[in-house]
Amino acid sequence: MLIDRPPMGWNSWNTFTNKINDQTIRETADAMVEQGLAEAGYNYLVIDDSWSERERDQDGNLVVCRAKFPHGMKSLADYVHSKGLKFGMYSCAGVRTCMDYPGSFGHEFQDARYFADIGVDFLKYDYCYKPSQADGPMLYNRMSIALKSTGRDILLSACSWGRDNTPQWVRSTGAGMFRSTSDITDTYTSIRDIAFSQLDNLPYSAPGCFNDLDMLVVGLNGNGSIGFGQGCTEVEYRQHFAFWCMLSAPLMLGLDVRNITKEARDLLVNSELLEIDQDPEARPPYMHRLQFNRDGFGDENVRIMFKHLSGGDYAVGIFNFGDEDTGANVRFYDIGIDPMCGYGFELTDVFTGENVGTYHEIYTMKIAAHDCRVYRAKLVQCGHGGL
Ligand code: GLA
Repeated sequence: MLIDRPPMGWNSWNTFTNKINDQTIRETADAMVEQGLAEAGYNYLVIDDSWSERERDQDGNLVVCRAKFPHGMKSLADYVHSKGLKFGMYSCAGVRTCMDYPGSFGHEFQDARYFADIGVDFLKYDYCYKPSQADGPMLYNRMSIALKSTGRDILLSACSWGRDNTPQWVRSTGAGMFRSTSDITDTYTSIRDIAFSQLDNLPYSAPGCFNDLDMLVVGLNGNGSIGFGQGCTEVEYRQHFAFWCMLSAPLMLGLDVRNITKEARDLLVNSELLEIDQDPEARPPYMHRLQFNRDGFGDENVRIMFKHLSGGDYAVGIFNFGDEDTGANVRFYDIGIDPMCGYGFELTDVFTGENVGTYHEIYTMKIAAHDCRVYRAKLVQCGHGGL
């Protein structure tokens, strides 16, 4: 199966951690449809860690926890499918999962069959309790082959947190997406750390296997199970989401969609941002040179990116990761627009829909701490230069 667009969906971990159950998942499936999230493209519903009993049965099979899932997993998978969604589950390449349930090490083909029989479409595959003598890439390759042996299309979502040089080998294992960082939390510093840490991984994400910057924290507002305090501001969530989209990252929601706020929903279904994320070419952004800060040095906190989109347009993202409001200058010369070339960019703000004009030399703005601007940019003749 070609994974040609960054996968989109919802995962239970950020809100519920181990407190998952049949009813919550069914309600979530309902809400995905009712809130228009499914229609916007969020079509995988993934149950994370802690769904099984603590031990396998006598035949070595995984056993669903009946206290949490009294109707079994097949019934739940059928329900999720009946809503037009795809069903995802979780296991681990090690001997135990991160929450100390049985992992798939040494049981890969048996577990793959189990998941296929349930009707699983997506397997998140974690990296805890990996025996130290076992080779990580081989374990992902093994599960990937095991999944393929079932004859069912199951997307392998590798979750080795970027360890052991994951980006360099993971595509070769058949995985459709890969985690490149340790776990996100519902804090701005976590978002920023992840964003900065991935600037070196830009070349590794492409159709077939996408760099997963972790599940989104948009809309958690401190109510999830992975945050501390109040969560983030709307401005910070907006920057977080826009950054993931500029990198064409998988978009796995982590909020409680049953109680989604208007702000979160509007952001998550912003069709301009989703188009940027889901652009078929999935190109990494071209990085503008750093701004100069007051001391005349490159200001790492302000990042400006140009992303080529299929069809000829561009997306321009300006991100202020700094803790203070600042000015930012998009200098078009830095991305290859010679002042005399006769072309400029017509910019439309993807949040407001406002056309802010056509620029060919410099576009200057004030940008608040932790905020961003994203424009759809059209290359237009602008009458300057020697044409
Ligand atoms: C790891 C993963 C998380 C989540 C938990 C579950 O920490 O990185 O995304 O799946 O395990 O225990």
